[in-house]
Amino acid sequence: MGTMARSALTTVYTRGVKPVIFRMHPDRVHDDMITYGSWAQRVTPVVAAAEALLAYEHPALVTEAYGLALRNPLGLGAGLDKNVAIPGILQATGFGFLTFGSVTSRVCDGNPRPWFHRLPAEESLVVHVGLANGGVERVAARLRDLAAHGSPRYTALPFTISIARTNDGLTGDVAEGVEDYVTSVRALDGLSPLIELNISCPNTMVGEAFTSPEALDRLLTAVDAAAPSQRIVLKMPSDKPWEAFRDLVDVALDHRVDGLTLANLRKDRDTVTMDPAVKGNLSGRPVRDLSTELVRRTYLHAGDRLTLAGLGGVFDGRHAYDKITAGATLVELVSGLIFRGPAVVGTIARELVALAQADGFDRVQDAVGSRADVPAALPS
Ligand SMILES: Cc1cc2nc3c(=O)[nH]c(=O)nc-3n(C[C@H](O)[C@H](O)[C@H](O)COP(=O)(O)O)c2cc1C
Repeated sequence: MGTMARSALTTVYTRGVKPVIFRMHPDRVHDDMITYGSWAQRVTPVVAAAEALLAYEHPALVTEAYGLALRNPLGLGAGLDKNVAIPGILQATGFGFLTFGSVTSRVCDGNPRPWFHRLPAEESLVVHVGLANGGVERVAARLRDLAAHGSPRYTALPFTISIARTNDGLTGDVAEGVEDYVTSVRALDGLSPLIELNISCPNTMVGEAFTSPEALDRLLTAVDAAAPSQRIVLKMPSDKPWEAFRDLVDVALDHRVDGLTLANLRKDRDTVTMDPAVKGNLSGRPVRDLSTELVRRTYLHAGDRLTLAGLGGVFDGRHAYDKITAGATLVELVSGLIFRGPAVVGTIARELVALAQADGFDRVQDAVGSRADVPAALPS
């Protein structure tokens, strides 16, 4: 029943809905998704019915990570729901966990619009949001409200809050940046199981100020000292040469970092055909092989000292399984939802079980790192 429903919904999305919404500007589609999703999730029987149709449950998918038992290893990556507006809708798609944010210490307007541009042939979204969000205090209040009054239909999933440095005219030196992150860490203390430190947003005025080992060490020293109750995850850049990337992993290993999410948007736009006037960085297919290879190399380097989440271009079960066998315990997606529709999560989950079982694994988690031993050259 679920498989047929997901397959029918995928057909409806790709042949009916997508051609219509892909004629609309992607900024508007994103805004409408948040507005209408916020209303729709209040009708809890509809959300429950959607989840029953979309989510794929199987004991082989249950994944242990960060001391949590997740119903599956698939999570929403940061960026789609910055202010925790539609947790009910997102949960209904069948994810095992959700990432909200990125959120910043001050309210942030982000870059001037447009924020998004589609590259349908490349299955990629060009993103130039610049961390627009309602600020950490608003998100903290929202989380407290959900914990006190939220429907269990959309507060059941474990979640991560992604924190970034505020992107505005007040941005100062590294010390100011450290203080900015720590302000957000303190504001969210105790309100989520995990905090993701986004050090790799490529769309900001000051660039990626914390992707040098020295600056990252200062940031993580301050976060260690703040001692939040949450586990800490780092959101890594996708465009560093391996040696520079490995240096950042080594800094993470010296601190209270439990995991890495690999990786953020791709800055190198030479691999796609696009109008040079369009601002932003690439999601989706252009990040796929690059992030899988970063997972593989990081897993070989750090072993099980860090929990890895592979993110970038995951549209089907094979893409997710490649990241798992390269060493990712968790797999996240954002663009997959946009290009394949809401049934994609359940479809990937079902395909993951089949792929793991075909390789002789009882549980998908048993396949983690099973093909990590042959590092290839970083794809261009
Ligand atoms: C619409 C959109 C907004 C994003 N915003 C953020 C963000 O706020 N913080 C962040 O760490 N990454 C952000 N990202 C990057 C994604 O989390 C992810 O790293 C990247 O898109 C690759 O995954 P994908 O191919 O599944 O989209 C955003 C991506 C998209 C498509």
